[in-house]
Amino acid sequence: MSGHARTSVRVGVEIAGSGACLPSRRLTNNDLVSMMDTSDEWIVQRTGIRERRVYDPKVEGTADLAIGAARAAIADAGMKPTDIDLVIVGTMTPDAPTPGVASVVAARIGAGHVGAMDVNGACCGFVFSLNVAHDMINSGGYKSIVVIGADTITRFCDFTTAGRNVAVLFGDAAAAIVLRVNQDPSIGLLAQAMHSDGEGARNLFVPGRELDFPPNVEYAPEKIHRIYMDGQAVFKFAVGTFPKLIEQTLEKAGLAADDVDHYVCHQSNYRILNSARERFGLSPEKLSVNIDRYGNTVGASVPLVFDELRKSGRIHPGQKVMFLAFGAGLTWGSSLWQL
Ligand code: COA
Repeated sequence: MSGHARTSVRVGVEIAGSGACLPSRRLTNNDLVSMMDTSDEWIVQRTGIRERRVYDPKVEGTADLAIGAARAAIADAGMKPTDIDLVIVGTMTPDAPTPGVASVVAARIGAGHVGAMDVNGACCGFVFSLNVAHDMINSGGYKSIVVIGADTITRFCDFTTAGRNVAVLFGDAAAAIVLRVNQDPSIGLLAQAMHSDGEGARNLFVPGRELDFPPNVEYAPEKIHRIYMDGQAVFKFAVGTFPKLIEQTLEKAGLAADDVDHYVCHQSNYRILNSARERFGLSPEKLSVNIDRYGNTVGASVPLVFDELRKSGRIHPGQKVMFLAFGAGLTWGSSLWQL
């Protein structure tokens, strides 16, 4: 049943399951070399990416990937789709303006007429959704929520030399977790942060019309529906924001960097992740990287790392996990959990 009466009793929120769904088409750096003027060496050295998955628009879309991830996460939690009372999808690439991806997922997994909504926070879509979903359960309104990050961003990439600075970075994917009410109130969110800077969007945006071009970017019809990115400005933003976000979240929770067992980070560039590792003295075990296999998968990136950690048996009750993302919007946000 959806929308239980709100009560003042605070409950715990557990991460009950996770799952992922990837398109089957693999595009290696060498495959890209046949499409544009680039090289495996350039891509690996600057980003750490070796291959990515790319969806086939003729047979699948964001909703299909989201459905696969939701089903896998619900099964992993040992639950049925009818146990879910809310579906939230973090996505910036819905297949169409309407229906929302979450509505399609709810119907097609057989969850019934439950609440369903999309959150557009670009690469932060999943982390923002996670924070919202936690509080919906914690405040007594819902019992089980599937939170999905799903994007088919490659449709906004230009796979020619003109678009090489962007196209080599991205891949398509979906991943999900299931949140469930738990009677132990010490389990759940310890601290979170959500931020945005709409002015900074001039360095990373997808124009839909001529009016969307800021003064720093010259309009051209072929740039419509293509990602514009000033790579160096975004790199600077990410390297500067990332440690501040970690510090702010630790401070809110009254924790030290080493108290956190896993930093589950948005995968946008190996060098950005590595700078955070160095800054806080984190071992590779504490800050996992999978960008080499998937590239930047936007909203799917964070839950995809979490699902890999969980499937490899490295996530345990009692651990503390910090989810972190930053991206277009500009947006940045965190979600620190006691498992
Ligand atoms: N292959 C080969 N050469 C490429 C290339 C590619 N795919 N893309 C760009 N180049 C060239 C450029 O044309 C430029 O050539 P020039 O010196 O002759 O003008 C040169 O490589 C350097 O380009 P530049 O953009 O300065 O590279 P960079 O060191 O800044 O690295 C990024 C580019 C995109 C890897 C880096 O800026 C980055 O990771 N930025 C952050 C991106 C990000 O995280 N975005 C998502 C946020 S969620």
